[in-house]
Amino acid sequence: MKTLSEKQISLLLGWYADNKRTLPWREEVTPYRVWVSEIMLQQTRVEAARDYFSRWMARFPTLLDLARASEEEVLKAWEGLGYYSRARNLHKAAKLVVERFHGELPADKEALRTLPGIGAYTVGAILSIAFGIAEPAVDGNVLRVYSRLTAEAFDQSRDDVRREIADGLRPLMPAGKTSDFTQSLFELGALLCLPNALPRCDLCPLKDTCEAHRLSAETDYPVRTAKAEKRREKLTVFVLSWEGKFALRKRGDKGLLAGLWELPNVGGYLSGEDVRALYAGTVTPLPAASHVFTHIVWEMTGYKVALDHRPDDPTLVFVTPEELKEAYPLPSAFRAYKKHCSALR
Ligand code: ADE
Repeated sequence: MKTLSEKQISLLLGWYADNKRTLPWREEVTPYRVWVSEIMLQQTRVEAARDYFSRWMARFPTLLDLARASEEEVLKAWEGLGYYSRARNLHKAAKLVVERFHGELPADKEALRTLPGIGAYTVGAILSIAFGIAEPAVDGNVLRVYSRLTAEAFDQSRDDVRREIADGLRPLMPAGKTSDFTQSLFELGALLCLPNALPRCDLCPLKDTCEAHRLSAETDYPVRTAKAEKRREKLTVFVLSWEGKFALRKRGDKGLLAGLWELPNVGGYLSGEDVRALYAGTVTPLPAASHVFTHIVWEMTGYKVALDHRPDDPTLVFVTPEELKEAYPLPSAFRAYKKHCSALR
């Protein structure tokens, strides 16, 4: 596989110095802050992650604070970011770092890899950004930039391809500038070398050295791999109110949104008649909503039920709107219905 030239790296670093964004994790760089930001940024856009990151650091300023928090507090701080296993793994890993490494993330590739949620990418980001160690972090941005610069038609979903790219980049990482090197590739991918048909080659410092640009084939790279169709699931969601409180239920330990709270729901679409057969009370239909997960789409309909009496169902917990806001992590999938959990509606 081709790799980058010294000239490209020097152009890239020069451009980064002039164009990097001010981001909260770029101020006061510590291994803990880099770790948390990189885990957030794995499946969340920079703009969305920004505020979550600042709130997280206010709530859990150090790794020790995170290790001492309850899982419920951690999930609450993650509420709305999705992919909750990221939050669970951060929490588990923080406890392990306290047990095994005296509360400090180790500056060591193998030791970091033993921690839950930390793969090759995160190791590269932590080592290169926080510790100044030459270890590349190859994410989607880097793959896109790399595939265009080299016009290589590799399959970006393959781990061995990512490894090969990392092996090519490692010896090129300039001593003392490993953080800028890693982040300049992220930044170019985020600001100029944009996905799909949108690259801003006119502004790119590397355009005269880019193989895909020379071939006028920027948008042919990276080569797309066929995506599987998402499975569609129909769901009826209930907003059950009882004496100013609303019903929540805990999801099972396995599968989608495992262990999180949810609004009670059943598979399929129920009619108002069906709902009245389940719950005694005043039934009002709510608008349809959908939520897209990685492999599944939920197509939801909903009903609000002002209950005549509390249902005899031990899995339901009734909470006030304030408790829901402060203490119960409810995934974004329920956002359209959560807003009806309020005394005003
Ligand atoms: N994407 C992933 N990591 C990033 C970082 N540190 N800065 C900006 N974008 C990123």
